[in-house]
Amino acid sequence: MKLKYKILALNVAALFIMLMILGPIIIKTADNYNLLNILNYLQSQGDYSTFYIEQYVLNKASNIFEVPSIMESDSSYLCSYLNKNIKSRVQIFYGNRLLGDSEEILEENITIRPEVAETFKGNKAYIITKNKNRILYYATPLNIDNRYNYSLAFIYDLKDADNMKAQNISMFIVTGILAASLSVFFSIIISGKITNPINDLTKSAKLLSQGNLEQKVKVSSNDEIGELANNFNYMAKSLRNMINQLKDEKDKQKNFFDNFTHEIRTPLTTILGYSELLWKTDDIDVKDKSLFHITSEGKRMLDMIEKLLELSRLKRFDFQINKCDTNLKVVIEEVCDSIQYKLRRYNIDLKLELEDLSAYVDPDLFKQIIINILDNSIKYSETSSIDITLHNKNGIKLRIKDYGIGIEPETLENIFEPYYKGDKSRSSSIEGWGLGLSIVKEIIDKHGAKIEIASGKNKGTEVVITL
Ligand SMILES: Nc1ncnc2c1ncn2[C@@H]1O[C@H](COP(=O)(O)OP(=O)(O)OP(=O)(O)O)[C@@H](O)[C@H]1O
Ligand SMILES: [Mg+2]
Repeated sequence: MKLKYKILALNVAALFIMLMILGPIIIKTADNYNLLNILNYLQSQGDYSTFYIEQYVLNKASNIFEVPSIMESDSSYLCSYLNKNIKSRVQIFYGNRLLGDSEEILEENITIRPEVAETFKGNKAYIITKNKNRILYYATPLNIDNRYNYSLAFIYDLKDADNMKAQNISMFIVTGILAASLSVFFSIIISGKITNPINDLTKSAKLLSQGNLEQKVKVSSNDEIGELANNFNYMAKSLRNMINQLKDEKDKQKNFFDNFTHEIRTPLTTILGYSELLWKTDDIDVKDKSLFHITSEGKRMLDMIEKLLELSRLKRFDFQINKCDTNLKVVIEEVCDSIQYKLRRYNIDLKLELEDLSAYVDPDLFKQIIINILDNSIKYSETSSIDITLHNKNGIKLRIKDYGIGIEPETLENIFEPYYKGDKSRSSSIEGWGLGLSIVKEIIDKHGAKIEIASGKNKGTEVVITL
């Protein structure tokens, strides 16, 4: 069964049960209230009438013994008189004899009714018949001078109360039908409001499962369904991002592989070329030259393999870095000492401005960062000076700045991708692999640190590392 119909059925059932319980209670309560009012009315009329009859008879009788004969003769008149004021048939009984009746008496000796019998025990009593047209029989003792015991009885037709009861029942049925129709109407609207977004969600989820990732559910409500739709949209977006990331990763892997094979080709071709030459020639100079090239290309390849191994080692998720409290100033100075020879060869001035700062880093990896960045400035920038500063301002900041040719914006954008090289290094005179800054970025990430490279054409390059 569809949720929509379940909600509908539940609402209608709840309403039906409520009406079935409430209806009879309300109708019964209203009827009882009516009957009680009538009973109170008859009781007060009864009290008044008995008083009136007693006064009437005592006034008329010249002595007390005349009371029975006056009652015999005047009862019918008294009943008719009282009937004019009371909306009820009036009767007067003496024992099981009917002395007077406001309506025509058909027989005098009738079977005495229980409520009348009760009055001769000194009690007021009433009976309501249970058939369709109900009648209320009410009787009260009529004692004259505490000596003669009569009974005054009212026969009250309950047709007004019956009508009202019937009216109430039909009103209840009409209201019930109206309420049921309204409930069906609103249930359809509400269940639609609940189930439409669920249907949308189901459709979207189906499309999503078929690989259509651009799914979005319209969120119109602020309730649990809205929240579900929001979460669905969020999930679809995350899925989209994840799949895009995977695609990117796949592209990157393919690029990496293409680049690797491309890069390895040139030195291998050179090595093979000179190796063949060695077989063919006897010229000692050519042999020397060939051996030199074979050795240097082999070394270069070894350098690349080492860098690749380092990169893959850093990329391993279980790679552990050995952090310890490291004096950064000392480490930087050590690196600078080790490249003095290179700096002199390129005629570069090195200016240091280092605060004596320590940080919790892996000293060997930290050294690698500085070596790679300095190596780039030396190799590519054609600068005549490099500044290194180390300060503690909003975190420990290490700046390495050269004043050379700068990096092209396009290169800068992809500079951390493996094998990505700028134009300068593609030219054969300077031979980098494009792996240095990938390794640097990996080390920076492992330390949870930040690296920013700012560069402008002929304005130089500044690398800032924030620990
Ligand atoms: N200070 C700089 N000035 C000018 N160009 C730079 C500078 N630093 C880096 N580059 C450019 O960025 C490229 C990427 O540098 P990266 O260190 O990753 O690779 P590489 O130096 O070419 O190779 P490897 O470091 O593996 O030997 C370089 O090829 C170079 O073109
Ligand atoms: Mg480099």
